[in-house]
Amino acid sequence: MGINVNKIRKDFPILSKTIDGKPIVYFDNACQTLRPVQVLNKINEYYNEYPACVGRSNHKLSEKATKEVFEARKKVSKFFNAKENEIIFTRNTTEGINLISHAFKLNEGESVLISDKEHNSNLIPWLMLRKKRINVRFFKFGDIEDFESKMDSTVKLVSTAHVSNMDGTSQPIEKMVKIAHDNKAFILIDAAQSAPHRQIDVRKIGADAISCSGHKMLGPSGTGMLYLSEKSTQNMDLFMTGGETVINSTYDDVVFEKMPNRYEAGLQNYAGIIGLGEAVEYLKKVGMNNIEEHEKMLNTIMTEGLKDLIGDNIQLLGNPEPKLRSGIFSFNLKGMKYHEVSLILDKTRNIMIRSGQHCVHSWFNANRIDGSARASLYLYNTEEEAKSFVEAVRKLSSFSR
Ligand SMILES: Cc1ncc(COP(=O)(O)O)c(C=O)c1O
Repeated sequence: MGINVNKIRKDFPILSKTIDGKPIVYFDNACQTLRPVQVLNKINEYYNEYPACVGRSNHKLSEKATKEVFEARKKVSKFFNAKENEIIFTRNTTEGINLISHAFKLNEGESVLISDKEHNSNLIPWLMLRKKRINVRFFKFGDIEDFESKMDSTVKLVSTAHVSNMDGTSQPIEKMVKIAHDNKAFILIDAAQSAPHRQIDVRKIGADAISCSGHKMLGPSGTGMLYLSEKSTQNMDLFMTGGETVINSTYDDVVFEKMPNRYEAGLQNYAGIIGLGEAVEYLKKVGMNNIEEHEKMLNTIMTEGLKDLIGDNIQLLGNPEPKLRSGIFSFNLKGMKYHEVSLILDKTRNIMIRSGQHCVHSWFNANRIDGSARASLYLYNTEEEAKSFVEAVRKLSSFSR
């Protein structure tokens, strides 16, 4: 069963708007997605009907807010096939990764293994550990043999992306989890670009931790989730501490909460969490496999439509096979700067893409490529939009020759 894009589009108020008399073609979904009215209504519902503290007070508004956050955690945990106490609400993928980089106990001389194509959010937190004389090692993204060859007894933690935000290529993470665990290493998956676009079953994947962002999957800005396996908390210290993380305290001592509260310090973004619960319900109804297939179909239209120019006037980043780049089309036009490409597409057709280094500066620097223009797709994008992109890029390409 495919997806009914026309029906879906009606749920997104911004898609019925025009700018300069033209509709919006939103192809910047790897950064943030648009939100359906169901999510917007749920956010408003919190502020209009029960804008109170969760788990602290026992009046009616607080009881309702507590129940709604509880329900949201239930929805999110079900979506990922996790247990409810394994889902920690965060602000974003970055915060989840920082939580692990601070809380996981590492000793001087031990190593962290990451790929050569990580987003800054999965690079910098590890580089910071070098100050504590912890080694950071790199393997080639997607190269399992290289990954396995870099695993040695000093590697205690692996952290890597499931899908690259730069070019859409992915890694066989289930195999990687097995290799990490065979070597007694903890493994964290950066699922920022996979959780919104394909089914993530934490039990099937088997990783110790998985971090992703709500705003990349129809949820409110500044929301995220960290899955932390119940079994993997033994070697974990605390991250941020304070209200909500403790059961009791004296002037000298503290009794910390269990999971997940021990990692959710202070008053949370309750409207965001509740909205996020609604976002995953929406995605579940559409079906993650349907979303994945839809994006691949659109990416195939874009790649096939530009095929004769790829390798000539167009430099395509990532695998030439569109089905292996999920919903990402990352490219450069000969003789034209990527920022010019995105500005012209926006100005002439309201085609909104991203240009630059996509927070993967390290890979661009190492490969001596300046940056790229990147179109990234989602469930509400249409075949007509993909064709319009092809037409616009072909036209630009004829100018840039
Ligand atoms: C692969 C990957 N990791 C991490 C991040 C950081 O996400 P956030 O800014 O939501 O924390 C992104 C954002 O684009 C990403 O694509």
